[in-house]
Amino acid sequence: MKIDVISIFPEYLSPLNLSLLGKAQSAGLVDIQVHNLRDYAIGVHGSVDDTPYGGGAGMVMSPEVWAKALDSLMVEDTDLIILTPAGKQFTQPVAQEFSSRSHLIFACGRYEGIDDRIRQYYSQPEFQDRNIRVHEYSIGDYVLGGGEVASMVMIEAITRLIPGVLGNPESLSEESHNSEGYLEYPNYTKPAQWRGIDVPEILLSGNHAAIAKWRAEQAQLRAEKNR
Ligand code: ADE
Repeated sequence: MKIDVISIFPEYLSPLNLSLLGKAQSAGLVDIQVHNLRDYAIGVHGSVDDTPYGGGAGMVMSPEVWAKALDSLMVEDTDLIILTPAGKQFTQPVAQEFSSRSHLIFACGRYEGIDDRIRQYYSQPEFQDRNIRVHEYSIGDYVLGGGEVASMVMIEAITRLIPGVLGNPESLSEESHNSEGYLEYPNYTKPAQWRGIDVPEILLSGNHAAIAKWRAEQAQLRAEKNR
């Protein structure tokens, strides 16, 4: 999978080279390129934003700057993901869906966001004919300083679902949200007693069927309590 991320703060995205994603890139499973939007700035001052039509606070990112960046990266079969708190909610099923795509572009807006004509322009039939799809996603109902952290959240959730990225693929089938919306059961490791608190007896029993049943119940209880 090829992933392009466009931001005015490319350094913000350096954690993408660490841990699981760093290894996935070295193994050739994922190719992540971060691009500086300022490289596509126009005008003598090299600005990337301007005041909003209709008035109001803040600045809006200029469409031509974004289009120059996007035109250079857009190929057949691309999903363009615009990060905005006004987008659709990003969830595990969405991550699953994107994990089988070939090319994702993450557009990280700052300030009051990107001129809406970017979304409109790349949604036109000529782009649809080239299998270019435009999406707006939010990672939750709160407002971040920009789309950078949101894009990292999405990239981490999506790429760990690509076959070969996780060391132990079994952890995928057991974890939260994978089986009918259940959250994961509580986990314990050694020692069996710690600061006066015992590991539940059943986990020491060796009875795999009973353990599986107990874990399913615990996951259900946790979901009822927390959701
Ligand atoms: N940009 C600012 N807040 C955001 C959010 N919650 N999700 C995605 N992009 C954002």
